[in-house]
Amino acid sequence: MAIENPFVFGKAAEGAYFTDRTEDAKRLHANLTHGINTILISPRRWGKTSLVKKVIGEIDRPDITPVFIDIFQCKSEYEFYHAFASAIIKQTSSRLEEWVETAKSFLTNISPKFSFGPDPMNDFSLSFEWNPKEDTGADILQLPERLAQKKKTHLVVCLDEFQQIADFDDSLKFQKKLRSVWQHQQNVTYCMFGSKKHLMENIFNDKSKPFYKFGDLMFLKKIPTEEWVPFICSKFQESGKSISERQASTICEVTENLSSYVQHLAWVVWYKADKVVTDNDVKEAIDDLLEQNKVFFQREVEQLSERQLNFLRTLADGVTSGFSRKEIIRKYRLESSANVQAVKKALLKKDLIDVDGQRISFNDSLFKQWLKRQTYYD
Ligand SMILES: Nc1ncnc2c1ncn2[C@@H]1O[C@H](COP(=O)(O)OP(=O)(O)O)[C@@H](O)[C@H]1O
Ligand SMILES: [Mg+2]
Repeated sequence: MAIENPFVFGKAAEGAYFTDRTEDAKRLHANLTHGINTILISPRRWGKTSLVKKVIGEIDRPDITPVFIDIFQCKSEYEFYHAFASAIIKQTSSRLEEWVETAKSFLTNISPKFSFGPDPMNDFSLSFEWNPKEDTGADILQLPERLAQKKKTHLVVCLDEFQQIADFDDSLKFQKKLRSVWQHQQNVTYCMFGSKKHLMENIFNDKSKPFYKFGDLMFLKKIPTEEWVPFICSKFQESGKSISERQASTICEVTENLSSYVQHLAWVVWYKADKVVTDNDVKEAIDDLLEQNKVFFQREVEQLSERQLNFLRTLADGVTSGFSRKEIIRKYRLESSANVQAVKKALLKKDLIDVDGQRISFNDSLFKQWLKRQTYYD
């Protein structure tokens, strides 16, 4: 008998593991099947990859071909082209001969070469001769449009972890190049998504940047408690255990509805509990999860300055705005309001906090819980 885990974390939630997001899915589906470029933004582990995979998995049309590219590993323009070309060639056909033919006919200027591993259908790599002086990049950026025309199809190209391009050398120039090629394509729709909200906003929501108004900007929200509770309860029930609605909402509360932590904590509660979940099971599961993550949190703390740490402690203590107030600065030893600004910037860059107007939030809800337990104020 196959044993199924009732919860999933650490990889995209698909099928029965996926919950809610009906409106987001509808909007994204409509966009991607009607040629509207879309940008999807949220902090890490809220559910962007899961949502995009679900939506492209449900596009059931012979005239639309989705391509999924994760650029997390790409550290340069060159690596981007490489990942881009490989994914497009591979995912637009399931025939090996066609890959080779496509590469040869569309990438003539860069002499593409294939090397195949033991399982050639899943295991191939593409290499090409690269001369940054001649603009070989444009050839690669044109590839989806040319392929779409030849195959009389429409491509939906999804670029995960797109914020990575902000770190490339001369990123702005690269962004200009992408935009200038992509904006003329008639048969390709782009879906770009990523975390590090400040970086994504910097690329897409700044009037002076090439990608300003490139497409529909979607900000993903957290899945609300009303959606999580029935999901958690039914997962327990289907697997022969039971949890109360109150206990399920405690799971949401502690994790502040951060999707991957909700699923992770639910899993720990599930395996610890007998048939019926007790409050003590929930309490112990929280302790366990914090303990499991302790090394990461400690490592994070080691890399913070004292003021940065004090700022995070302020947030963990429940303060969300007014950091420049005298009594806050004194109580949490934040030094000065100029210092507060500098610290905010640094923490934003480390992706530890998010700023929404006047409101500042701690991105990692469990790190926050853990810090809270380490800190006492009189
Ligand atoms: N719609 C969803 N329903 C249930 N769980 C989800 C959903 N979206 C995300 N999750 C949970 O969050 C985790 C991270 O999701 P992911 O899509 O990888 O986030 P992101 O791409 O924003 O970093 C998943 O492994 C899963 O545990
Ligand atoms: Mg993701």
